[in-house]
Amino acid sequence: MIRLDKYLADMGIGTRQEVKRYIRQGRVSIDGIPAKSPETKIEEKARKITFDGREVDYADYEYYMLNKPSGVVSATEDARCTTVVDLIRDKKRKDLFPVGRLDKDTEGLLLITNDGQLSHRLLSPKKHVDKTYYAKVAGKVTKEDAKAFREGVNIGTEEKEEWTRPGVLDILKSEEVSEIRLTIQEGKYHQVKRMFQAVGKEVLYLKRESMGCLKLDETLKPGEYRPLTKKELENVADENA
Ligand code: URA
Repeated sequence: MIRLDKYLADMGIGTRQEVKRYIRQGRVSIDGIPAKSPETKIEEKARKITFDGREVDYADYEYYMLNKPSGVVSATEDARCTTVVDLIRDKKRKDLFPVGRLDKDTEGLLLITNDGQLSHRLLSPKKHVDKTYYAKVAGKVTKEDAKAFREGVNIGTEEKEEWTRPGVLDILKSEEVSEIRLTIQEGKYHQVKRMFQAVGKEVLYLKRESMGCLKLDETLKPGEYRPLTKKELENVADENA
């Protein structure tokens, strides 16, 4: 059971104050009857709530797969930049956040949800969730680089070392601009870029392709998103239970 004003505020109709006003103005109905009080308790799924005649369904949790474009920040709000949450235009809930961060210039898979528990499990260092990235790297990526990544590299400084856990580097193309796929289980700040820096190379383009069993839907262009399918959600939840 939930209060009517909270129901409407959770679904992004307005602030608690605004929705109280809408209720007083008779713009909100419960099963076709204008609601009288913001305090009315309702069963979220059992009643038909309308605002200005438009049905407002209740969603406890939402899960979206976003193909993050470059130029957008992995945050919920930002005074200057578009955020990944701004891109989810038809969200119901206003408490969505990205599960982890991709750099502003990184593209690819980002899960956007309001499920704090799932997010915590996916990001927990103890869970060792695989994250796979595709990258274009300046210069020839070599077998020696792959060996160094397999053993772990120092992405800190000489004074303050910071070693990575082993990563699996697949060299797709070793040329002036190389193409690689890298799987790591950590999510340190700028980790992929700093791993290449540690072997004297620069990442020119970076895209996350998967996180655990969740794979980026390649039909999503950068900036596009869709809800997770039931199967994807079940798999992600099972994998991280
Ligand atoms: N590693 C990086 O360097 N940047 C990202 O956005 C993700 C992983």
